[in-house]
Amino acid sequence: MPLVTGGVILTAARAGKYGVGAFNSNNLETTQAVLEVAEALKSPVILQISEGARKYAGTETLAHMMADMASRVSVPVAIHLDHGSSFESCKTAIDAGFTSVMIDASHDAFEENIRVTKEVVDMAHARGVTVEAELGRLGGIEEHVDVSAEDAFLTDPEEALEFIRRTGIDYLAVAIGTSHGAYKGKGRPFIDHARIEKIASLTPIPLVMHGASGVPTWLTERFKAAGGEIGDAAGIHDEDVSRSTQNGIGKVNIDTDLRLAFTTAVREVLNASPKEFDPRKILGPSRDLMKEIASHRMKVLGSAGKA
Ligand code: G3H
Ligand code: 13P
Ligand code: ZN
Repeated sequence: MPLVTGGVILTAARAGKYGVGAFNSNNLETTQAVLEVAEALKSPVILQISEGARKYAGTETLAHMMADMASRVSVPVAIHLDHGSSFESCKTAIDAGFTSVMIDASHDAFEENIRVTKEVVDMAHARGVTVEAELGRLGGIEEHVDVSAEDAFLTDPEEALEFIRRTGIDYLAVAIGTSHGAYKGKGRPFIDHARIEKIASLTPIPLVMHGASGVPTWLTERFKAAGGEIGDAAGIHDEDVSRSTQNGIGKVNIDTDLRLAFTTAVREVLNASPKEFDPRKILGPSRDLMKEIASHRMKVLGSAGKA
């Protein structure tokens, strides 16, 4: 079906108390993996493209490829700009056909974050595109950081309400304990569920969890067995993701898990078949392993069966 906005998908998710995976992609195989699983599980899904992915593969090339592939499945799909860095970046993404953009001015001061975000909202809404912005700062919350320093990083609920009112955004990325990448803390990373509940009690708009990869041990073990090197990796537990989606998180960002799956399968094929040089024989198994990841996540999020 034709693309839909992120807003259409996420409003339904927040109302239905489930989450929708926003999977980062910068190539054919990742996009195929995510869409094939979404179709098989009857799940809405968001494909997201980072600034780095745009540089790597080309904004129009990615957007047109994804839109074409999305038109061949029956579930709702949105194409989203992940961590858009400027008004101009959001505008050119919309020009290329993205149906959702994130303006990430979270590193600016509160008033400047509001100013830049509102500018993007006005432009995007005039073109029928929905907008995500971020308040607070993600980062590894280490065990040695005391509570007050930790609080300074996390999203303040009252500020969030003011931010949403003054900008008119459609969904808000919140800092609630997650961080990007494969090293999210030791053991089970702390997720501030009380903060999610508090913010959600103040606003009906969907909240966004960045850094939501699970980094499962079975996958890191396979990565290592295939010769990969990875330290004390840790991701967000399924129970934490599931609980958050019942309490207001609608959009759940996943990149690291797909990267690990992709690379693990490439390593395995190249180790097992040194004579292989057909890229399809090397990347096909990567696609299969990414499908396992996406499938598990969509079931945990509760989006399976919702399309
Ligand atoms: O949040 C960051 C995403 O994982 C995208 O990463 O900028 O390396 O494409 P990237
Ligand atoms: P992960 O690194 O946990 O996959 O998070 C990705 C993300 O938040 C993209 O915006
Ligand atoms: Zn992110």
